[in-house]
Amino acid sequence: MRTIEIFDTTLRDGEQSPGVNLSLNEKVEIALQLERLGVSRIEAGFAAASPGDLRSVAEVAARVKNATVISLARSNEKDIDKAYEAVRGANDAGIHVFLATSPIHRQYKLCMSKEEVLERAVAAVRHAKKYVQHVEFSAEDAGRTEIPYLAEVVEAAIKAGATVINLPDTVGYLSPQEYGNIFREMFRLVPGIEKVKLSCHCHDDLGLAVANTLAAIEAGATQIEGTINGIGERAGNAAIEEVALALETRKDVFQAVTTLNLREIARTSQLVSRLTGMIVPGNKAVVGANAFAHESGIHQDGVLKEATTYEIIRPETVGFKSNRLVLGKHSGRHAFKDKLADLGYHLEQAEIDIAFIAFKELCDKKKEVSDDDIVALVDSKMSGSAEAYKLESVQLSYGNLSVPTASVRLLRQDGTVLEEAACGNGSVDSIYKAIDRATGEDVTLADYKIVSVTHGKDALGEVYVRLQQGDLIVQGRGVSTDVLEASAIAYVRAVNKIIERRGETLVASV
Ligand code: KIV
Ligand code: ZN
Repeated sequence: MRTIEIFDTTLRDGEQSPGVNLSLNEKVEIALQLERLGVSRIEAGFAAASPGDLRSVAEVAARVKNATVISLARSNEKDIDKAYEAVRGANDAGIHVFLATSPIHRQYKLCMSKEEVLERAVAAVRHAKKYVQHVEFSAEDAGRTEIPYLAEVVEAAIKAGATVINLPDTVGYLSPQEYGNIFREMFRLVPGIEKVKLSCHCHDDLGLAVANTLAAIEAGATQIEGTINGIGERAGNAAIEEVALALETRKDVFQAVTTLNLREIARTSQLVSRLTGMIVPGNKAVVGANAFAHESGIHQDGVLKEATTYEIIRPETVGFKSNRLVLGKHSGRHAFKDKLADLGYHLEQAEIDIAFIAFKELCDKKKEVSDDDIVALVDSKMSGSAEAYKLESVQLSYGNLSVPTASVRLLRQDGTVLEEAACGNGSVDSIYKAIDRATGEDVTLADYKIVSVTHGKDALGEVYVRLQQGDLIVQGRGVSTDVLEASAIAYVRAVNKIIERRGETLVASV
């Protein structure tokens, strides 16, 4: 069995998903969970993109102990210097430089000849190598690059000191057969290729990212790049959990294993979904709500007799637990603390205290409190962002024949209390207009989603909003037994994020 290294780029390529904008604390929370999941490498961001990105990469580098922490950099000295500045505090630091090699990118994007691209790639790897041992070189759009030229660039990058060579299908264009062939060709054409790690990085534009990743593994790739839940640019990246489960379930075919603790998959998926606001579709492989649900009578009958009739993965394998009813109104602080530990939280005492108060309040409103409720509640209390405004109260006057009117009371960070009222087209609209008046922020509501955490009339409602101000798009999330309160919390959180992120000027993007 070969061991395949997992390079997670949820915090970089994943964060490039439209509308996703994680705060520093959220990135650290995800990075620590990725460490628990057992990934070998964490691409924590693109340090040259903005001072805020640099700070978050540096914080992840300082906190993560058991994975290589990497920053992306374009192939120029300034980016590479920033990448090093960000990762230098890591236990194990890496720099990932990239440069496009395909004829389309050379001609239209870079306006560079083949020779110039090759020289620039070599110079970039050499510069990164002055700082760190772990240097990855990505030939962007390798999938559409002439194979003999790609082999030349790869050979030159290895000679310049690259320890990992990544061959991305940047636009998700190739078939598994074609993608696997690139790896076979590199093994045939590039002297010294066996001394480095060969990595694949697939996008899902044709729904082939996972299939292409598996094809690369079969063709000899020793590292795979991907994201949790498959989030990322456009249609996203290869979903790490799907690749890992394919390797685990079909060891007989792939003859390869990963270092992942598969039981952490469900928790990691749920955390990424909550913090990015990208809801996992019910039918998503491995982590979707229906991935282990059997609807047809024939299937149910089969599974009851013998699970393997229709189930090739056990839900427990990826860490799903049945929705046991656990704590209730009579549960004490100690039991609550144990439950948090069981659910994978590593909280400070002050955070446990806040969560416990919220839990007790929930017990007054909701008869049955499940694990999912506790997770939703605790995550909603740990907002992860600096709070410029806090929602103190929201009141609504609504009738199907009258104009809805909302009044809100916000507490500003400096202690000032702000009260405003507004009418709107509906209840949510009136609440949002009142909040806009109170904060004076000019924002546009780009998206609004509401989901229920569990089943039943008293289920917690989870609201996700996406707000836009100029080029800045952020998401906010709120949880409450009342969906209007959840809507207000989500909106105030998003406004707070806008204020936090506005201070961080964007310098560059991939
Ligand atoms: O898709 C891609 O080519 C990338 C590179 C920056 C590695 O994300
Ligand atoms: Zn990518």
